[in-house]
Amino acid sequence: MPIRPLIIAAPFLALAACSAQQQVAPPTPLDEAAIRERSAPVAQAFQVALQSQLVAAMSEGGPMQAVEVCHEAAPRIAAEQSAASGAEVRRVSDRNRNPDGGLTPDLAPHYAELAAQPLVDGAPATRIWQSGEGEGARINYLSAIPMRDQPCAACHGSDIDPQLKARIDALYPQDAATGFAAGELRGALLVSWPAEG
Ligand code: HEC
Repeated sequence: MPIRPLIIAAPFLALAACSAQQQVAPPTPLDEAAIRERSAPVAQAFQVALQSQLVAAMSEGGPMQAVEVCHEAAPRIAAEQSAASGAEVRRVSDRNRNPDGGLTPDLAPHYAELAAQPLVDGAPATRIWQSGEGEGARINYLSAIPMRDQPCAACHGSDIDPQLKARIDALYPQDAATGFAAGELRGALLVSWPAEG
């Protein structure tokens, strides 16, 4: 529970600021419900858009066709959702396929918490936190993407068809996104907003 201490600390910080007669505004605690309310639909829109393309391509031409669709569609949908929402929308992982999808030091501890428990009451676990300061400050929402057998194992599991694996390696020479078991954390979706004020 990394958020709670922040909220508890806030009134004390406010008191400290008042008694010192400072003009500096106390840090406002994060309104998690509001952040969740505006981030969850963005995450959902990304997942629905990508999932529908993946499922369509799998049934049309199997994983050999679907891998091309994922390669093209995932970064494009992320860019579209980013432009539409004003947030930075992208997928990350500690064992990533897309070379831009690695963890930054800021993401790593929050990702580790999701990895420890990818699902909470059957729903993907999420984390909310603020990073950076001043103009670079961001409000971050990270939502777990758990591994599943169907259809994920074809491309992220332990027993990948050699022809498919060769194609994946050609597209992603640094690919680390194989060998996942159902229920493990496959990755996470980041929705990162510029912090206002
Ligand atoms: C047909 C092959 C294929 C299937 C099936 C598939 N993926 Fe992927 N996955 C990919 C490719 C290709 C990428 C890299 C996309 C890119 O270039 O951004 C990827 C990337 C990802 C990423 C982003 C992090 C990273 O490693 O780059 C996550 C998370 C992910 N997949 C989860 C899943 C889950 C969960 C499922 C099952 C619902 C699934 N994938 C099914 C091919 C597949």
